This record gives sequence, structure tokens and C-alpha cells, in this order.
Amino acid sequence: MPTDPPDHKPWSGRFREPTDALVERFTASEHFDRRLYRHDIAGSIAHATMLARVGVLSEAERASIVEGLQSIEAEIEAGSFEWNPALEDVHMNIESALTRRIGEAGKKLHTGRSRNDQVITDLRLMLREESDGMVAALRRLQGAVVDIAEREADTIMPGFTHLQTAQPVTFGHHMLAWYEMLERDAERFRDARARINRLPLGSAALAGTSFPIDRELSARLLGFEGLCRNSLDAVGDRDFCIEFVSNCALLMVHLSRMSEELVMWTSAHFEFVEIGDAFCTGSSIMPQKKNPDVAELVRGKSSRVMGHAAALLALMKSQPLAFNRDNQEDKEAVFDSLDTTRDCLEVFCAMLPGLEVKRARMRNAAARGFATATDLADYLVRRQVPFRDAHEVVGNVVREGIERGCDLSDFTLEELKRFSPRIESDVYEVLSLEGSVASRDHIGGTAPAQVRRAAARARRRLAGVAEDTGT
Ligand code: ARG
Repeated sequence: MPTDPPDHKPWSGRFREPTDALVERFTASEHFDRRLYRHDIAGSIAHATMLARVGVLSEAERASIVEGLQSIEAEIEAGSFEWNPALEDVHMNIESALTRRIGEAGKKLHTGRSRNDQVITDLRLMLREESDGMVAALRRLQGAVVDIAEREADTIMPGFTHLQTAQPVTFGHHMLAWYEMLERDAERFRDARARINRLPLGSAALAGTSFPIDRELSARLLGFEGLCRNSLDAVGDRDFCIEFVSNCALLMVHLSRMSEELVMWTSAHFEFVEIGDAFCTGSSIMPQKKNPDVAELVRGKSSRVMGHAAALLALMKSQPLAFNRDNQEDKEAVFDSLDTTRDCLEVFCAMLPGLEVKRARMRNAAARGFATATDLADYLVRRQVPFRDAHEVVGNVVREGIERGCDLSDFTLEELKRFSPRIESDVYEVLSLEGSVASRDHIGGTAPAQVRRAAARARRRLAGVAEDTGT
């Protein structure tokens, strides 16, 4: 048999004319989907092994295919593999190289398979691995957040609603709120992994194959926990990509919120924290500037990943079954989402341990803005004043405080008694910031004792020694 030229297209049999050069460039995906090579080769080795087991390939053919694929993998890793855009994608590049290397047996590898089920096998293998990587990176970041929470369990800061001073909270409590957002992200990646981890091979182009394949064996060889149950659905489905990228997008939304808080807290108007010099940049014109660019970039990059999630949804909308070439557009969105998200997680992991917490600044800020007004109202309620009346009374005290430019604890007892005779000298305990946070002493509350307990539970969960019971 004559050997084919290096850019012979495996599908060229029914064509009379060569592909237009523009179309060749337009349809090619090898320049981005080549990063699936490891998974493509693993999928092919499993497929060849299965074909040999059921007697479609001989043992010698299987051995030659596996050896050929392994040498190609080594070459790709060494950077000496020659990628050819005329061969469209990673699949045809590798298959062509295999046939050039080992001859006839290489041409048998694609028996009972199509690029339609091949490409999603590759993608599923990649996203399974990346899901584990995301969870591991999230765990590291959660660990860094819990470190701060433990250290700052007693640190008082103003808590905000509408970005207006609301009630005092502890900074440790705020850190554990970040922890919870990240915990849900980790849960989502773990949960979606179960749906990623199913074998599409055997679906072939769309209808399955007439060869006596053993799909369970292929699944076992590749570590898939189940089979895609319908061939049409399998080759047309990109839900697993949408889920993965959506999970990245939501995680990025969380990182953007954390970034926004860091940007605010580092500004001269807050000065609650300082980010290490190694994670800030200066201004080319204003010598005094130290800018939180890393946090700003994370905030900015969240928009890209959100865009990719929207792009994938739009890509699939109204697509008829089964495979359509549109789907080739999924890869860059998936790759950029996972690269961007992973980078942002890493940079946050590296940045947080150097965060300097300015406890006095936080405390002073909490002491302004009548943060303990709710505590005064609750005090009156405990002295039998109905809550609505108590609310009104405290509102009047606050109004006078604003006029006089003083805080609630600056009023003398006689002055306070003019607003309500039920107020006694013990009122100053609830007007203090420490008293206020300590009194919120229940699961989920901001009391330092609760923060320490919640941090300990979080640590146990991170170490995998506690089942998540919601607390
Ligand atoms: N490159 C395609 C993709 O990314 C896979 C190949 C399927 N192509 C085809 N003509 N059926 O989804």
C-alpha cells in the first residue's frame, strides 16, 4: 500500500477538489485543541485496548498502536511534534502521525469511533482532572482564610448593609463568610464532577457502532464511573462544559466580591487592611500611590469568565441533535475559563497570608456611626418596651447624637433616661462594641467564641475529618 502524504485528510475520499486555503484556516482547531493531547492519547489507548479485548484488533496491532501513541506523546511533550493545521484538530494530527509511524495498524484505531465521541471523551477527562484541581486550590484558599479568621476572632469592625455602618462584627466572622462562599464553590465542582465522569465512547458519530464493543471495559480503563446512556444525547451534549464554566463564573463572582472589599479596605478612607508590597503596584506619575491592582484584575477577570458561561449557553441554544460543528467553539471558552479561574485562585492564595489587619482603624470605624443602636433597642425590649417603641426611642437618641456630633456611649445616664426611664447604668455594657459582638452568641453569629468554634469546624472539614452537617 502506498503511504499517504503528511497532510492527507482522512475524510478526503469523496472530495474532488482540495480544501480552500481560507476554509482550512477557518475550520482548524489544532492550535487550541492540541492541549487535549494527553487525554486524546489516553482515550485512544483505552479504545484500542477494548477493541483488542473484543477481537476487533489483534494483540500485535494493539501493542503497536499503544507504543506508537506513547512515542507521539513523548514527542509532543518534548516539543518536537509537528502540528499540521491542514489536519484540522488534535485528533487527526495524532492519528495521522500514528499511521505514518506504525503503518496499517494505525488506520484501524478509529474503528467503531468518531471524532464526535472522541472529542468529548478528551474534554470529559480534562474537566474531571480540572475539577479536582479547582477543589484543591479552593481548599488552599479556604485554609488561608481560616488562618486569618482564627487570628482575628476578636477583631471588631463595622458590619455594613447598603455599605452604611450597620452593626459591629468581628473580622474573623467576615473571613468565615468568605470561607462559606468558597465552600459552596467546592461543593459545586465536586457535584458536577459526577456528571462529567461518564463515558461517551461507543456513541461514535451519533448512532453507536455495529462493532461488538465493550463500553463498560472502556469506562473502567479510563476511570469513568458510568456510561452516557444515549448516543445522540452523548455527542450533542455540552452540559458538562456549561456546568463547569458556570461554576468557574460563580467562583469568580465570589473572588470579585472579595477583591472589591480588599480594594475598599485598602483605600485611605477605610485603611482596614494593607496588602503586601509584592502584590501591589505603583503609579508612573503619582509617587505616593500603592495600588491594589491584583485584586482589581481579579475583579476584572471575573467578567471574562461570566462571558464564557453566557457564550456556552448561547452556543447550545436551539442546536438540533446530534453533533454540530458549532461545538468546536466550546473549547476556547472552557480553556480560558479554567486558566483564568485557576490563576485567580492561586494569586489570592499567595496574597492573603501577607494581609496586614489594622485592628485599631477597624475598631475606630465601628465606634462611629451608631453601630450599637440595635443593641440599645434590644436592651429596651428586654425591659418590656415593645420593639417598635424601642426602635423609635433609639432613633431619637441617634438624631440627637448626630446633632451633637457624639456617639451613643457618649451620652450620660441622665441624658439617656430623658429618652426612656427604663434605661439603667448597665446600658453601657450593651453600648460597648465588645458587649455587642459577644452577645450574638449562637451558631452563625459573630461572637468571638462562635467564630473560634466555626473556624475549628471549618478546619476539620478542610482536613476531611468531619461530615458536613451544615454546621
Ligand atoms: N473539532 C471538533 C470539535 O471540536 C471535533 C471533530 C468533529 N468534527 C466533525 N466534522 N464531525 O468538536
